[in-house]
Parts: sequence; structure tokens; C-alpha cells
Amino acid sequence: MRNLLFFFFFIFSCSINENSEENLNKRVDSILSSMTLEEKVGQMTQINLTVIAKGPNKWESSFPLEIDPNKAREALIDYKVGSVLNTINNTALKPEIWYKTISDIQSYAMDSTRIKIPVIYGIDAIHGTTYTDGATMFPQQITTAASWNPENAYNMALVCAYETRASGIPWNFSPVLDLGTDPRFPRQFESFGEDPLLVERFGKAMIEGYQGKNNDIGNKYNVAACMKHFVGYHAVISGKDRTPAYIPDNILKEYHIEPFKKAIETGAKTVMINSGLINGIPVHVNYNLMIDVLRNELGFEGVILTDWEDINKLHDRDKVAKSKKEAAKIAINAGIDMSMVPYDYQEFCQNLIELVKEGKVKMSRVDDAVRRILKLKIELGLFETPVTNYEEYDDFGSKKHHELSYKSASESITLLKNEDNLLPIKNNAKILVTGPNGNNMRTLNGAWSYSWQGDLTDKFAGEFNTIYEAFSNTYGKNNVKYVPGVSYSDGGNYYDMVEDDINKVVLEARKSDYIILSLGENSYTEKPGDLNDLSLHHLQIKLAKELAKTGKPIVLILNLGRPRLITDIEALMKSIINIYLPGNFGADALVDIVSGKVNPSGKLPYTYPAFPNSLLTYYYKPSEVQNNTQGAYNYIGEVNNLYDFGYGLSYSEYEYSNMKLNKDNFLLNDTIELSINVKNTSDIDGYETIQVYSSDLYASMTPDIKRLREFDKINIKAGETVNIKFRLPVSKLGFVNVDNKYIVEPGRFKLTINNQNREIVVN
Ligand code: BGC
Repeated sequence: MRNLLFFFFFIFSCSINENSEENLNKRVDSILSSMTLEEKVGQMTQINLTVIAKGPNKWESSFPLEIDPNKAREALIDYKVGSVLNTINNTALKPEIWYKTISDIQSYAMDSTRIKIPVIYGIDAIHGTTYTDGATMFPQQITTAASWNPENAYNMALVCAYETRASGIPWNFSPVLDLGTDPRFPRQFESFGEDPLLVERFGKAMIEGYQGKNNDIGNKYNVAACMKHFVGYHAVISGKDRTPAYIPDNILKEYHIEPFKKAIETGAKTVMINSGLINGIPVHVNYNLMIDVLRNELGFEGVILTDWEDINKLHDRDKVAKSKKEAAKIAINAGIDMSMVPYDYQEFCQNLIELVKEGKVKMSRVDDAVRRILKLKIELGLFETPVTNYEEYDDFGSKKHHELSYKSASESITLLKNEDNLLPIKNNAKILVTGPNGNNMRTLNGAWSYSWQGDLTDKFAGEFNTIYEAFSNTYGKNNVKYVPGVSYSDGGNYYDMVEDDINKVVLEARKSDYIILSLGENSYTEKPGDLNDLSLHHLQIKLAKELAKTGKPIVLILNLGRPRLITDIEALMKSIINIYLPGNFGADALVDIVSGKVNPSGKLPYTYPAFPNSLLTYYYKPSEVQNNTQGAYNYIGEVNNLYDFGYGLSYSEYEYSNMKLNKDNFLLNDTIELSINVKNTSDIDGYETIQVYSSDLYASMTPDIKRLREFDKINIKAGETVNIKFRLPVSKLGFVNVDNKYIVEPGRFKLTINNQNREIVVN
């Protein structure tokens, strides 16, 4: 018996040992010590799939997808490339095609090379597994944030990890932890909005969903997350993609870096660098940000990846390197571990090999990078299971997954206006659905859906419901009509619109009880989404105005990736609902809200601007407040917003009362205990998000008007009063000062929840 116990103990300790950090490092070191310089450089190289697929050139592949043996041999065997990304020709592929493709790639890397290191395949699967036909598309991150329930981000990542592994892929370039501060920026929809705390909470949930709560990325249902884009990517001056940003260090630290810090504490395995430049320095050469901050201050141990072609851009675009070789030198020396080359890998590999031989890049720097990459590959279990098999993933695209996507959409959709309680709309109403966003799946999903720009969505997502289809299903085919009025043109420019027949829409409107006017944007991301005018397209405005003349009640549905200006038509709309980019089940969720089956509970994760020259986050400085008596043109409220951050209506009414604190005077290491009563005074159950803001009343640097410090979304039954408690450490009330130090300055603070507030003193 004793022997038997000893035997079990021995087996148990061996299995613990096998996964220990020490063993992992030993395994990494033993591989690394046997590698040649060429093999190491190969590991630091990432190429696009088109480079090794059959096809006319490195950018395009032929269909059906096949790995080209000559191209694959050159890249994977001769140059020993260690990573591949993306799909071919920007299109989604079936899981079995992914399986075959990645199996082929792994057999080149593992059967025909001396060192037999598996390739790590990476993909952009940012709201579901973008590039897999049949995968579950969730609402985009901006929509998810509007649910104010991080569980939705967790569910999205959980499903996405599962379906990405079902596609044979273990590494996902997600989540986006950029602070979405600018409504003009073409990737605001990829963020969790403008508030650092929202980004932090949702980002953490997403990493837990991808990597598992214990970061066991070897589990076949988990993937390695990639936080992006470190850091300050959206805060550009022009509002356009990859243009200069000027961000003081203290602002960067307090607002932009903080969510990354939390993600690193959560265990995020990899990071992608911001493709732009801050204070004149491309982030890809910023040693201070990558080494001093990311590595040393934040303790990030994982792989640092470039964004697309960004080493070359140091030469081609940013002019900080006289040649591509110099670009490679300064980027690798500044901390880059892997280069998303992704086309001219021969040149990158040769340059880096020469740089090491010339002593311009130290072997120790290369070893450091390769060590991290090998560790990631081992942790992902790639040596044992180079490709996961779709046949073992029965829940791929399942009803269970679809339901989680629907749930997220239904909790996110935000009711912004409901004059005279127009909504919900009763059964049997005669409804006209109109507008360019009323009958397609493309605009519901946005970019990164079956293709990069989302332009193929209607081909892949035909089985799901457009807004028109969802309304027909609920109100009956005979009661619902669709006439677009204006449409997106098929031309190259996503913003071009054509007028179909506005008169016809007006005639139909006269015969209807309600108009569901679906306006917004077509899908876009990155450079193609750059914008010269934040207003909605003039033809959409025209359609809205013509319809308003009929006197029929209009429900404006906003289907957009960023808040486009609607100030001209806002007063003409009886109800306004922001659905953002709600994914494949967004229209079902919308109609359930319009019909009253679901009580809306989303709240804006950004400030909805009213005018092009008044673009502010909610945490503005006091001097931004407009002075009405000076006759400010177009004056709306304090800072000319249309709708505030955190705003959103419900069919229920809530009354806040009795806000209490445990005391009024606090020390720096105390915790504030707050409680408040929230009563649902209506006769329907609802979800309410309770938001706790703090305002530092006087400080050595002008304080923000307010900052979100806590939130919680809870269910409150009709007529019920709930007492909610929060614990807020005083240490959370600080800011980063001009010396780049986080401090809490003693003094007076105001804590606000809804219409209640209390002042405290911190000593
Ligand atoms: C984007 C990244 C993305 C990468 C790979 C870049 O253009 O900025 O967000 O992960 O492409 O597709």
C-alpha cells in the first residue's frame, strides 16, 4: 500500500513538474541552444498565407486554396519561417479547408526541417472567428461595451476561442484595448469605447475567455490572446488611421496604458504594436514604450509582434530609417520579437541575419525574442498537436453559440429617445422599413466579418435576419414593407450613396403606421474607413427629412461603427435606437426591443457628439464648458453633446435615493463604502446599470470633470427597490501628474451616482 501511495505521489509530482515554469524554460533553452542563426531569424518572421499559396503572385491566391509546394519549401524550409497569418484573398474559408491548409503547413515545418518547430498560425478573429465560414459572429466590441456587462465579452471570447481552434488556429489578434476616444477614427467600433475602466473590465473578460481563467492555452478550446495596438493608436490629431498622435507621457499612462496593464496582470500572452507614431516617434522604434514601460514597468513577458508591414514602414512611410535593413535594426533593437513582414520575408530574413553577423543586432536580443516565441509555441501545445481538428468541435456555429451572440446584442442595443412612449410598437402595426441599412447583413456586422472590410457578409450570412426580415418575422410579412430610398453604391468608395426613389418611400410611408428608418454607415476599417465629414451622408439626411414631412412617427435606427452626426434630424425623430454593429443576431434583438419582448438596457460607451467642432470625451476639463451667454452658436447643454457617455433609456423608470457613505473623512489607504437605493417605479422588470463617478474638486493639475470608478448592471423587478453597495478604495481616485507619477492628492472629492452625490474629504 505504501509503495502504491508512493507511486501515485511520484506520478502526480512528475505531471506537475512537466508543466512547471522551470521545465518549460529548460525545454526552450534546449531547443534554442541547438538552433542556427538562420533558424532563429525564421522564428521571428511572420508571412501572409498568400505568400505560400498557389496563385498569380504573393498578394493573391487561386481558388480553391492550395499550398504551393515550391513557395512553401522556400519559406518554411529554406527560410525556416515560424509564423503565418491571415486568409487568402480576404475571404472566409470552411473549417475543413483550414484544417487541410494548416496541416500542410505544419508538415513542411515539422517533417522536412532539421529543427522541427511547428508554425504558429495567427488570425484576426475580433468579434467571432472572422475568417471561418459558419462561425458565430457576435456584436463588435463597441456594441458589447454598450451592454455594460463584461460577461458578454467573456462569452464572445469563449465562443471565438472554441471556433478559432475548430479552424486549426491557436493565436488570435484580439482583444483591442485601444481607448476609443475619437468618433472620427475608422476603428472606434473595434474598441470598448472612450472610458479606461470600461476598456479594462471588458478587456480582462475577453482575455479570460480566450485563454481560460487559468491561462491554460494548451487546452484545445483556448487560444493565445494578442492585446492591441500598444499604445495610443486612436488618439491621433487628424482622426485618420495611422496618422500622428501627440500624447504627453502622463496622459498615455493614466488613460491609454492602464487597460494594457490590467490585461498583462490577467495573463495576456502576446501584444501587437501601434502602427502609428506618437510625438514624432513611430511606436515600432520606441524603446521606452516597448522595453522601459511594457517589459520593465508592466512586467510583460510575452511576444511583441509588429503590426502589418510596420518594419518596412519605418523606411517607406515614416522616414526614420534610410533603408529596410536599418529599419529592421532599430525595430528589433527597440524590442520587437516577431515581424509581421508579411510579404518580402526573404529580404527581412537576410537583413536580420546580416545585422547579427555585423554585430548591429546582438545575438542575445535575437535569443531573447526566440525564447519568448518558443515558449508560446510550447505552451500552446503545438509541438504535440500542431493543428486542432474541426471534427472534434461539435459546437462550432451551434445554436448554443448563436444564443450567446443574441444575448449580447439584446443587452447592448441602446434606446436614446422615446418621445411619448412611442415604443414598444404593438402587434399588427403596418410598418415601413426604409434606409440603406434596412436590408443587409453587411452593415449589421461591420468589418472583420468573413472578410477584412466586411464586404462579403451578405454572401456568407444569408441565413440570418436583416432588419427588414426580422420585422417581417415578428409583425407578419403582409404588415411590413421595405423600400430603401437611398443605397450604398457598388463603386469603390464605401461612402458613395445613390438615391433610389425617395418619392416611392414617401408614398409607402403614408400608408404605414410607423417608419423604421435604418441609417448609418457601410462597413469599413483602417485606411478605407478614414473620414472627411462626420455628418451622416446628405442623402440619408434628405430621406429622413422627407419622411418627417409625412407626419408618420419615425423610429430612427442607427447602425454605425462610430457616432455620425444626426443633429439636423434628431428633433424630427420620435424614437432613436443605436444598434451600433450588433452582429448576425442584431436585427432579431432589435425587433424584440421594438416589440417590447425585451426591455432595452444598453448605455452609450462613448459620448455622442452634436457638432463637428465639439468632439469631447466625457472626462473633459472644466474650461471646455460652453458659455451660453456669449451666444455660443448651436448651443446644446454644457459641452454641446447630443447624448452623454453612459446614457441609455429603458421602458422602466428608475428612481435613485438614499446614497450613503460609511464616513465623510478618509485616509489615503481607506476604502469608501457606498450604498444607494434604486427603485424600478414602472410595472415592467428591467436591467439598470449603476454608474459611480468621482470628481476631484481641486488638484495640482486641472482635474477631469468626472471619471467612472465603478459600475454594475443589475436586474430590478417591477416596483422593487434594490440597495446596491460598492467598495471603492481611495487609492483609485488619483491621477498621473506631470512627473508621470500616479498620486492621490488629499482634498475634497465628489462622488456621484445618477442624480445623487456626496462630498468627501481625503486627508
Ligand atoms: C491591423 C491589425 C491586424 C493586422 C493583421 C493590420 O492592418 O492594424 O489590427 O491585426 O493587420 O491582419
